[in-house]
Order: sequence, then C-alpha cells, then structure tokens
Amino acid sequence: MKILVTGGAGYIGSHTCVELLNSGYDVIIVDNFSNSHPKVLNRIETITGKPFKFYHSDILNEKEMRFIFLNEQVDAVIHFAGLKAVGESVENPISYYHNNLMSTIVLLKLMKDFNVTNFVFSSSATVYGDQQTVPLKEKLPLQATNPYGRSKLMIEEMLGDVHISNPEMSIALLRYFNPIGAHESGLIGENPNGTPNNLVPYITQVAVGKLDYLKIFGADYSTLDGTGIRDYIHVVDLALGHIKALERNSQQNGIEAYNLGTGNGSSVLEMLNTFIQVIGRDIPYKIKDRRSGDIAVSYADPSKANQLLNWKASRDVLSMCEDSWRWQSMNPNGYEQSKNIEVSK
Ligand code: NAD
Ligand code: UD1
Repeated sequence: MKILVTGGAGYIGSHTCVELLNSGYDVIIVDNFSNSHPKVLNRIETITGKPFKFYHSDILNEKEMRFIFLNEQVDAVIHFAGLKAVGESVENPISYYHNNLMSTIVLLKLMKDFNVTNFVFSSSATVYGDQQTVPLKEKLPLQATNPYGRSKLMIEEMLGDVHISNPEMSIALLRYFNPIGAHESGLIGENPNGTPNNLVPYITQVAVGKLDYLKIFGADYSTLDGTGIRDYIHVVDLALGHIKALERNSQQNGIEAYNLGTGNGSSVLEMLNTFIQVIGRDIPYKIKDRRSGDIAVSYADPSKANQLLNWKASRDVLSMCEDSWRWQSMNPNGYEQSKNIEVSK
C-alpha cells in the first residue's frame, strides 16, 4: 500500500514515516522544508534501512502535486503539512489560512480526480478550546480561540462536507494532544525554529545551555501545584495511531474524529522534575505570569481511539522525557551540525 505523507520531513511526520516503513508500507514524502531539514530523510533511511520516495514540493503547487499523483499509485494520504505556531498565526492569520486550508483543498481535489478515498488528517486538541470539563471527549462542541486552531476547525468541517458529497471517503480526524519525545535512536526529534514556544523543547534547550532558565507561565491555576496540566503523548505512540487510522479507513468508509492522547495529565512542575531526574542535575526556572490564551487543564478521553482503532498509548512520561533528552543532547543544534552522528548509509 502506497502512502503519500505530506510534511513527512517534519516532527510527527518523520516518526510516522519510520513506523510506516517498519510496517511494510511504501512511503512517498512531500515536503517543502519550510519547517524541516533535508537531513531528516537520511535519518529515516538510517533508522529503517528501507527506501522511500521524496518530492521536494509545495502542496500548494497543484501542478507539481498532480504530477506526483500521476507518477505514483497513491492509495492513501496522511496530511501533516501545515503551519502550527499559535502566536505566529495571530500575527499573520492569512498565511495560516492560506497554507493550511489551501494545501488540504489541493489534496482533496487530486484525491477526487485520482479516486483516492483514504485520508488521515492532523487535527489538534486545540479544536476543543477552553472547556468546562475534562477529560475531553470527541463529541464536545468545538471552539477554537486563535487562527491556527480555527484553520484546523475549518478543515474538519470542510472534510465533513467532502464526506457528505462522497460517502465512499474514509476520513480520520486525529486530534493530537501534546506530542513530545523522540525516536529511541536519538536520530530524529523535534527541531523548532528559533526559541521554542512549547514546554519540552524549552526545558531541553535550557538543560543543554542554549537558554538561561525556564519561564513557568503561571503557578496560580487551580491545579494540584498551581501549574498548567497537559496530556503529553510520546511521538512514537502518536505515529502508531496513524497506522491504526489508515487500517480502519481501509476497512470502513466514514468520517471519525479521534483523540490521540494518553488520558493522563502532567503539570509543568511534574514535567520539569521528571527532566531533572532524567538529566541528573537542576534545571533553573522562574515563575512568571500566565501566558495569554493558555488553559489550566487539558487531557484526553482516548477511549474512542482505544476501542475503534485498537490503539493505546503505551509509553510513559519518564520514557518521553528520556527520549526527548537523548535527541536534544545528541543534536544540541537540531539537524544543523549534529554531534558525532554518522547518518549516511
Ligand atoms: P512540523 O512543522 O514539524 O511538520 C510540518 C511539515 O510540513 C514540515 O516539515 C514543513 O516543512 C512541511 N510543510 C508545511 N507547509 C508545507 C507545504 N505547503 N508544502 C509542503 N510541505 C509543507 O510540525 P509537526 O509538529 O510535525 O506537526 C504536523 C501536523 O500536526 C501539523 O499539521 C500540526 O498542525 C499538527 N499538530 C501538531 C502538534 C504538535 O504539537 N506538534 C499538535 C497538534 C497538531
Ligand atoms: C500549545 C499550543 C496548542 C498546540 C500545543 C501542542 C499555545 C497557546 N497553544 O499548547 O495550540 O496544540 O501547544 O503543540 O501555544 N509552558 C511554560 N513555559 C514555557 C512553555 C510552556 O510554563 O516556556 C507551560 C504552558 O503554560 C502549559 C504547558 O507548559 O501549561 C504546555 O505548554 P505548550 O507545550 O506550549 O503546549 P500547550 O499550551 O498545550
């Protein structure tokens, strides 16, 4: 089965390509490297020892994408490509709507023309907005609070309409909670551009000496220790969820949203302490004001994915932190000038 993976050079995409190749799928990656590095491709090959196809293209370029569909017998599409920084989306909403919506539209047009019906979409827990109750269930009314989140919500709605027009389509909307961790080899991982916005890459960059101290955004939430709670999920567990979604799509038409989370919440201080345990030394921090737009608590009810996809996250927070740290310490500058790593085959 040939899977077209858009954004396959990115953080979640690269880990998913590894699991796809290890499971015997044929993989075609399309990426424009707007938020990734060509070295990722060698690393995927080093980890798996399997060949795959790569096209350096922009999904927005319908002509190039049509060429790929003409050239390859695509059986299914996993659509990771997109812009994902919340703050940037507030500053530049048009580029977020343009990239995220138009890339999906181009893919859906081509899938229709080439009769490809299996589609797995990277949605986000951000579509739940700020809810009164946790754990978050798929059936809750959705409410995004920023342009990035709204772009995900709009795409989910668009995919609903597409399914109504063509009930032969099989569409999985995967709502990721907070992906962290890295492949156990330490060869691929999260490689944020500039100063990280997310907690875990920020902590590991403090630990590696690139940043001075962690700013904890608020210790006055009504949580056990006052800091925000999130459902952190190992990126490899997340990657495996995509394979389960592809399999279910192959067996059954329809459109379904699934929470991909562990169902457990961890606070910022708990995460920091786990890293201190893993690294074996203190990590400096300061308590700061709350970050605007943040919610206190978010964690998934993953039971729908457990039951319908036969998927369950199995890696715990300790192994997530160990793997994040291995990646960061082996690659202090991300894919630029990685230390002592032989990646060519
Ligand atoms: P990422 O930025 O690491 O990967 C996205 C990849 O898509 C990058 O390699 C980038 O170069 C590529 N890309 C972007 N626009 C493109 C275009 N027009 N044409 C071709 N390639 C393009 O991000 P990620 O963390 O791997 O996230 C993957 C998907 O999951 C995104 O859609 C994101 O919104 C969603 N998501 C991520 C998180 C998270 O915390 N990482 C959480 C929820 C949802
Ligand atoms: C962010 C995004 C969300 C996205 C998610 C996963 C925002 C407002 N939301 O959410 O859309 O789906 O990442 O990629 O950016 N924290 C600190 N100090 C830091 C960074 C974070 O204390 O330097 C805290 C936050 O306040 C939060 C927790 O750590 O309580 C996790 O933050 P983060 O990793 O940014 O994830 P989300 O807030 O869930």
